[in-house]
Amino acid sequence: MISLVRPAAIDDAAVIARIHVATWRSAYRGLLPDDFLASLSEDHYEERWKRTLSESAARVYVAETPEGVVGFASGGRERAGEDHYSGELYAIYILRQAQGRGHGRGLVQAVAAGLRELELEDMIVWVLRDNAAARRFYERLGGVFVRTQPITIGSALLQEVSYGWKSLADIRH
Ligand SMILES: CC(C)(COP(=O)(O)OP(=O)(O)OC[C@H]1O[C@@H](n2cnc3c(N)ncnc32)[C@H](O)[C@@H]1OP(=O)(O)O)[C@@H](O)C(=O)NCCC(=O)NCCS
Repeated sequence: MISLVRPAAIDDAAVIARIHVATWRSAYRGLLPDDFLASLSEDHYEERWKRTLSESAARVYVAETPEGVVGFASGGRERAGEDHYSGELYAIYILRQAQGRGHGRGLVQAVAAGLRELELEDMIVWVLRDNAAARRFYERLGGVFVRTQPITIGSALLQEVSYGWKSLADIRH
């Protein structure tokens, strides 16, 4: 697999938005209401990602193959005041047809490097409780279950769980 993980540029906002919407629709089918998934707008997310890429302190990376960008991940300072964690993996999405080829692992390592640049030493990530595939991915990378909490997405009341790495060095390759 030839893949390059690099920091995202503003010009990547459109492809990130496309991957964001396509991957939500494939990964969350059956977990989130169909009408909510159908309502997701690439234009809306493109604007949001443009803002994130130009303004925020978040670190965003893309995985690029000769066929184009196939995934992205973002991370930064922990957002919700969780005890014991100062760094967070905010999002990671790989197009379905490109999953299982190491892009996810590469993107997590890139986010970890970004967190180190921000002088953060640990990482937490939140994932839908019923997103079994992503949970296995985080467990494979050495994430340790932290806790469960409710989350509302659209009209759906769901549960999410968190995984933590007390040290970025604990992220398994
Ligand atoms: C979850 C996700 C980010 C993983 O990225 P990926 O590129 O598919 O995973 P990788 O190929 O880098 O896999 C890394 C390791 O995790 C394991 N892994 C990945 N997905 C797995 C799964 N569904 N079940 C079991 N193990 C899995 C791989 O086997 C690999 O370990 P190995 O080298 O020992 O075989 C990606 O599949 C994805 O975007 N899924 C849909 C969106 C999503 O759920 N995002 C997370 C939201 S919180």
